[in-house]
Amino acid sequence: MRVTIVGPGSVGLLWAVRLAQAGAEVTILDHRPERAAQLNQTGIFLEDAEGETHLNLAVSADPDQALAGAELALVCVKAYHTAEAARTLAAHLPGPARALTLQNGAGNVEVLVAALGAERVLGGITSEGATLLAPGRARHAGRGQTHLGRAEGPPDAFVLALAELFNRAGFATSPAQGAQNLIWTKLVINVGINALTAILGVPNGRLLDLPAARELMAAAVAEVLAVAGPLRVQFLHADMPAQVEQVAARTAANISSMLQDVRAHRRTEVEFINGAVCRRGAEMDVATPVNRTLTSLVLALEQGYNGS
Ligand code: PAF
Repeated sequence: MRVTIVGPGSVGLLWAVRLAQAGAEVTILDHRPERAAQLNQTGIFLEDAEGETHLNLAVSADPDQALAGAELALVCVKAYHTAEAARTLAAHLPGPARALTLQNGAGNVEVLVAALGAERVLGGITSEGATLLAPGRARHAGRGQTHLGRAEGPPDAFVLALAELFNRAGFATSPAQGAQNLIWTKLVINVGINALTAILGVPNGRLLDLPAARELMAAAVAEVLAVAGPLRVQFLHADMPAQVEQVAARTAANISSMLQDVRAHRRTEVEFINGAVCRRGAEMDVATPVNRTLTSLVLALEQGYNGS
């Protein structure tokens, strides 16, 4: 399968290397031309417990070049770049090709569907741990589970073939019914973990050791579950509060993506995670004071980056 990875972040690089090793033809699209040129020269590095893999993959900032012949575009950009990625795909992704988002946060599937149509969009979630160490260099920090489905409807032959390719590439992947159920499942986990770890500056597992943090985690999760209630989401797990704690325990040593962003003084995805819960809550008259406070605290951290 010809796959174009959109965005050379931690998840993008992890998938690029593993898919190439599994026999896929992989190209990376990077919207920053200088970095694309640099990665084209240096190649891509992936570290894991067994050592380091170094592959020379084609990296381009030219969408026509990077998406030529693609059968799948794997969207791995930050949520605040999804609209730009969707515009690029609408203009350059070949007719029958599909786009799959594995991003954190709410709203990515909707943005891609608006640009490409529901038939061409897949949504998925992953708990594979990935850390960006430097441009073109990532660490596979821990193994997880991946689920993927169509924006609407049951898995079709393409979803099944993709799940098979991902499994061959070493990602434990299951096809699923309905991307929204997946996205909301991941959203609840991110709501419970990401902002709190970013604010407190702690690895995921530490939230379970600090009683006040654990209480806030439960309160933030209760709010997102209240918002999801009327939407009839079918979560992947029967007991979501327990699942959030299990993920924090399983990824205890991980630095969450939001804490990685804060440490690197990058914009975070808080407005697409806790902030999205507040926006949906406001539409439905569900109070979300804990998520509002967590969102404001993370935004305040971002506003402090330049020392002001
Ligand atoms: O965003 C993240 O860091 C991850 O989605 C998760 C599951 C919280 C683990 O760190």
